[in-house]
Amino acid sequence: MLTYPIYLDYNATTPIDREAADAMLPYLYVHFGNPSSAHPYGRAARKAVDRAREQVAALLGATPDEIIFTSGGTEANNTVIKGVAEARGRGHIITSAVEHPAVLEPCHVLAARGFDITILPVDAQGRVSPDDVRAAIRDDTILVSVMLANNEVGTVQPIAEIASIAHEHGALMHTDAAQAVGKMPVDVRVLGVDFLSVAGHKLYAPKGIGALYVRQGIELPKFMHGASHERNRRAGTENVLEIVGLGAAAEVARRDMAANIEAMRASRDRLREALTARLDGVRCNGDPDHSLPNTLSISFQNVQANVLVERIAARVAASAGAACHADQVTVSAVLAAMDVPTDYAMGTLRLSTGKMTTLEEADEAAQVIAAAVEELRGQDPN
Ligand SMILES: Cc1ncc(COP(=O)(O)O)c(C=O)c1O
Repeated sequence: MLTYPIYLDYNATTPIDREAADAMLPYLYVHFGNPSSAHPYGRAARKAVDRAREQVAALLGATPDEIIFTSGGTEANNTVIKGVAEARGRGHIITSAVEHPAVLEPCHVLAARGFDITILPVDAQGRVSPDDVRAAIRDDTILVSVMLANNEVGTVQPIAEIASIAHEHGALMHTDAAQAVGKMPVDVRVLGVDFLSVAGHKLYAPKGIGALYVRQGIELPKFMHGASHERNRRAGTENVLEIVGLGAAAEVARRDMAANIEAMRASRDRLREALTARLDGVRCNGDPDHSLPNTLSISFQNVQANVLVERIAARVAASAGAACHADQVTVSAVLAAMDVPTDYAMGTLRLSTGKMTTLEEADEAAQVIAAAVEELRGQDPN
């Protein structure tokens, strides 16, 4: 019988929640209508999309008309960054060195088009300093885009503080909350942001669906042009099936938030305790005081992460934070920005737990990883 490895890569993606999948089923088989159609088939689909919009809005503390469905986090980020740039025509954008490529790449594209981009550094824990934002912000700053939580190390940024600095200077504030939503309470009013990106597949909804919060009153140029879907803010026939999945997943996430956080934290802490107790030459990356409950970025000195990931692959599914090819070590941009020493950074695993991860799985995974690290360290590199 094929046995799958223990899955510790929930920051890469999550399985679809059972309740979300069940909610989707009628939209596969029965309610196939186009939400723009006036007949009962269309009306059933429209009703489902409206309900999902309410469910997503409720999770984020927004109103339904502030939610636009997108194809995912990447599209949400592109819509904001390129949209604000298009609306303003020129100006300065501030972002951080630890953003996902779905933020950094649009910024690079805009730099090539003449926009001025400041990429702020982070401290050793991966935090952006609000003082650095204050020092970088200018009269012509049009947008500040800093992620809510980091995908590799789990560090949570001081978004409310950064947003108020942005607003004091007349800039708009965006946060990429792809990794945060479902893993911590996220309220757009508490954060004080103008835009917030959601990626469905990180919160037990399907892949290829996401949402963008746009604060009421803000006009953002369309990213997708065509017919007047999404109240003329994003063209394209609605992905009804997955929108229903995202709505249901959002409702489950809101209902089960406290229990899920507790479960993710318990298994993540168990992994950390087991690995740090058994092995020397270990460091954990990130900010212990401001962190996602599920993410453990852990570095094993003098081990090659990609070799370790391969060594454990049959029993544990995890991500490497560095790659080694022909004696060349390529450390992830996030670990590099945090100045993690190379002899540690090269041996970094990202372990991310989910709401269904058990303590038994954490124990077994820790045992497999620790044994593999000991074996690799015991080997003569020559
Ligand atoms: C922080 C962050 N932003 C954006 C994305 C992209 O989201 P999507 O895969 O839905 O396009 C990801 C996914 O890895 C992410 O971790």
